[in-house]
Amino acid sequence: MTESPEAILLVGGKGTRLRPLTVHTPKPMVPAAGVPFLTHQLARARAAGVEHIVLATSYLAEVFEPYFGDGSALGLHLEYVTEEEPLGTGGAIRNVASRLRSGPDDPVLIFNGDILTGLDIEALVATHRSAGADVSLHLTRVDDPRAFGLVPTDASGRVTAFLEKPQTPEEIVTDQINAGAYVFNRSVIDSIPDDRPVSVERETFPDLLAAGAHLQGMVDSTYWLDLGTPQAFVRGSADLVLGRAPSPAVPGRCGDRLVIDGALVAMDAKLTDGTVIGKGARIESGARVEGSTVLDGAVVEAGAHIADSLIGAGARVGARTVVEGAVIGDGAMVGPDNELRDGVRIWCGADLGPGAVRFSSDQ
Ligand code: GTP
Repeated sequence: MTESPEAILLVGGKGTRLRPLTVHTPKPMVPAAGVPFLTHQLARARAAGVEHIVLATSYLAEVFEPYFGDGSALGLHLEYVTEEEPLGTGGAIRNVASRLRSGPDDPVLIFNGDILTGLDIEALVATHRSAGADVSLHLTRVDDPRAFGLVPTDASGRVTAFLEKPQTPEEIVTDQINAGAYVFNRSVIDSIPDDRPVSVERETFPDLLAAGAHLQGMVDSTYWLDLGTPQAFVRGSADLVLGRAPSPAVPGRCGDRLVIDGALVAMDAKLTDGTVIGKGARIESGARVEGSTVLDGAVVEAGAHIADSLIGAGARVGARTVVEGAVIGDGAMVGPDNELRDGVRIWCGADLGPGAVRFSSDQ
């Protein structure tokens, strides 16, 4: 038995909910607190003693290896396996099995590539071992579970059902949801079909339960956020900067703001609430940026106000423009005196003239 378990990271999803952030960049490579989001997950796994990680890639697969290489900069040994056609979460896990070194009864960690969490990874493995489970799942509690997969458990923590995206009050039998981190016995990975797409959430877990396998849940109510939507992604990045979400990979001291080397910020610009300014970006005089992510090479002109938003790489926000709860795609040009609010997504390369979009009168 190996002492430190190896891990699989699922990073092949198309990230449709996050578009246009994911038009040129796969979700795990979108920068959060100044580095590709995946860096935080890799660093947390390493801190928990994991050394060998296999990345299951598909969408825009070619960008991962040039950035992370063999993983030695993070003290890891990384391998990459690319699916010819997306195989879904379960198919992706099965597809990397040949790279695992674990024996049949050894635990293998599996992480979704879009979850920001303070999960105690070692405690999940310890729970798995002490319960003698086939599969163990990190569960977290949420106020509104309708967008998630519910996982009720009995008094001993053993999983009793999997209920995907419940809608009616009768279906909402628990506030525990699948938090996207698992421990699988290696032999269970080998039992997933290898010739077609498989969803671990909709197929593998319910089938294992029906077959009498032991699935154990571990509720850990530490910081947890699914970064699948633009608003959640921006929040997660800000929480990393503020130190609310733990990561050894934040490049600088945690605080109200993080300005990456090579960014230019005017003396009287205000950066607050976990704002991060990327390399080569420029924030001009009198601009205010709150709880937002400004990616590399973007420009925020004088007097603009950005809140809870993401400004894509190389994009430009014109003077006095207001951007609140919005996403500006890479390279988009937003002229002066616009007002962009409430979840609006400006596509990569779009060009909005002066005062082209407003919510209030211009006079
Ligand atoms: P949406 O399209 O916005 O739902 O995002 P997504 O494509 O990332 O899907 P989802 O959030 O359900 O995926 C959960 C995790 O599994 C993410 O880390 C994805 O990268 C990963 N994933 C989803 N489908 C595949 C797949 O077919 N292959 C691989 N390798 N990973 C996948």
